[in-house]
Amino acid sequence: MTADLFACLPKVRASREQMAEGAVLLRGFIGESEADLIATLREIVAAAPFRRMFTPGGHQMSVSMTNCGSAGWVTDRSGYRYDPVDPETGKPWPAMPPVLRELADRAAEAAGFSGFAPEVCLINRYVPGAKMSLHQDKDELDFGAPIVSVSLGLPAIFMFGGLKRSDKPRRFRLEHGDVAVWGGPSRLFYHGVAPLAEGDHPVMGPQRLNLTFRKIR
Ligand code: SIN
Ligand code: FE2
Repeated sequence: MTADLFACLPKVRASREQMAEGAVLLRGFIGESEADLIATLREIVAAAPFRRMFTPGGHQMSVSMTNCGSAGWVTDRSGYRYDPVDPETGKPWPAMPPVLRELADRAAEAAGFSGFAPEVCLINRYVPGAKMSLHQDKDELDFGAPIVSVSLGLPAIFMFGGLKRSDKPRRFRLEHGDVAVWGGPSRLFYHGVAPLAEGDHPVMGPQRLNLTFRKIR
């Protein structure tokens, strides 16, 4: 009887957790888009391969990156910027596929931000040991739009602080399928990712991918 009652529920029960004012963690939000999402990412990465970029200070990042959308976030010795052309291939970034755009729009809406319409999806790849230091996302012109961040693969510890670098970050475990959204009063909060622990994810293997959707204009 009990087994029958639960047979129709999705594998992952969605739930939400407030991280701060304007910031919410939508657990398991990718739901049934999982297979489509992963197949689409494979195509993007075939056209615009992951690469480890250099910071303006000359350090090579531990996270490898690529993008899709009408521009991509890049960093090199000259600084950070959004570039309509992939400097590695000399071609425009792959367009943002509808499955990605729609997931980002739905997540923004669920978090209370309607009409998101992101132009850029930055794709971060973490292998064990890779990390992202505390930073603000502030290379965009429009801070009225939120950031939508999708996690796939190995779990990570996401650090979410405040408006000052010195604000003590709270730690949230992001797992495969989770979507974090921050905007409004927390749009410019410092955030980062602790060094990824070793592991082998059943769907994604020994890595974590993060998709960060942004409206830049
Ligand atoms: C980022 O802030 O660009 C990445 C966040 C994440 O990997 O979860
Ligand atoms: Fe960020």
